[in-house]
Amino acid sequence: MSEAERVAQRPDAPGLFVALAPMDGVTDGSYREVLSALFGGRSGISLCVSEFVRVIHQPVPEAVFLRHCPELDHGGQTRAGVPVFVQLLGGEPRWMADAALVAARLGAPGIDLNFGCPAKTVNNSDGGASLLKQPRRVEAVTRAVRAVVPEAIPVTVKVRVGWDDAAAMVDIARAAEQGGASWLTIHGRTRKQLYKPPVDWRAIGRAREAVAMPVVANGDLFDLDALRRCAELSGCSAFMIGRGAMGRPELFAQARGWRTRALSTEDMRALLLAYVGQLLEDGASEHRALGRLKQWLRMGGMLRGDLGRWFEVIKRLQTLDAARQVLVAATPPCPG
Ligand SMILES: Cc1cc2nc3c(=O)[nH]c(=O)nc-3n(C[C@H](O)[C@H](O)[C@H](O)COP(=O)(O)O)c2cc1C
Repeated sequence: MSEAERVAQRPDAPGLFVALAPMDGVTDGSYREVLSALFGGRSGISLCVSEFVRVIHQPVPEAVFLRHCPELDHGGQTRAGVPVFVQLLGGEPRWMADAALVAARLGAPGIDLNFGCPAKTVNNSDGGASLLKQPRRVEAVTRAVRAVVPEAIPVTVKVRVGWDDAAAMVDIARAAEQGGASWLTIHGRTRKQLYKPPVDWRAIGRAREAVAMPVVANGDLFDLDALRRCAELSGCSAFMIGRGAMGRPELFAQARGWRTRALSTEDMRALLLAYVGQLLEDGASEHRALGRLKQWLRMGGMLRGDLGRWFEVIKRLQTLDAARQVLVAATPPCPG
């Protein structure tokens, strides 16, 4: 049985499941490609989820799915063999089911439903976290999608712990389960919190106890210590990591108990250059590649000094060539 099949069956088997979180504007196909290829393809990433595809009142063209998830042209996996689920965001069961069917026909190995997005534009137009206020709607969308997607393809749900508090967490988890979700990923914050502390791993644990399906814990998993504490407080053994991946790409392999060293500055340089190369190969303009590089350095810089120092210099640069020259210089320069 392949790892993808094992994961699809039981993602909460200990040490098996550490997913790369979807991050709109960050985790594009090029990013997934280079991260999953790390350590000769033993990155430790069990699963990726695409950036969300917005579904509103009309069919989603195939081209949109292929843009969000170019891996659909390669069996729904990165070249290192990591499955990429297609994420859908919307509140109407009929159109969500319609979109899920198209994604499944294109070869998506799984469909993930986003009920966690806190963006005002999305919430005001009936999508993402706004559905957490009515768990029955989470159930209805999940059920409609589950009804049309072939049984072998997991339909998974991603939520926050609630809208303005975590009181409805158990109801939300049960709603997802009753709708037929294969598993549930929970970001341990409310919509109201956006990304502010504290993350509530205990609320994730309450949901886990209330349902039989696997629950994947997410939120602020920035190092092994956080993973251990989250496991203790939530009781979960399956995890999803988003922002931490940019500063600590080795965390996935470490979380799975594989002997992996932390990336050196040299490794990080190679990874960033590979990312830029991959973006260009995938058709990104130099302008876009420069923007993406700056973003990785900025977000990764919160966890690593070398990325932060590169960011301070590269953020002012206007061309990709100039940024690459800074990267290949011997050490991350001191700003100013
Ligand atoms: C820039 C950004 C974009 C995001 N886009 C998505 C998205 O498209 N779909 C989704 O389900 N969650 C999205 N998220 C939420 C993450 O998947 C994750 O739940 C959150 O960042 C908490 O995990 P972390 O602390 O490991 O980053 C996004 C988060 C960030 C920071």
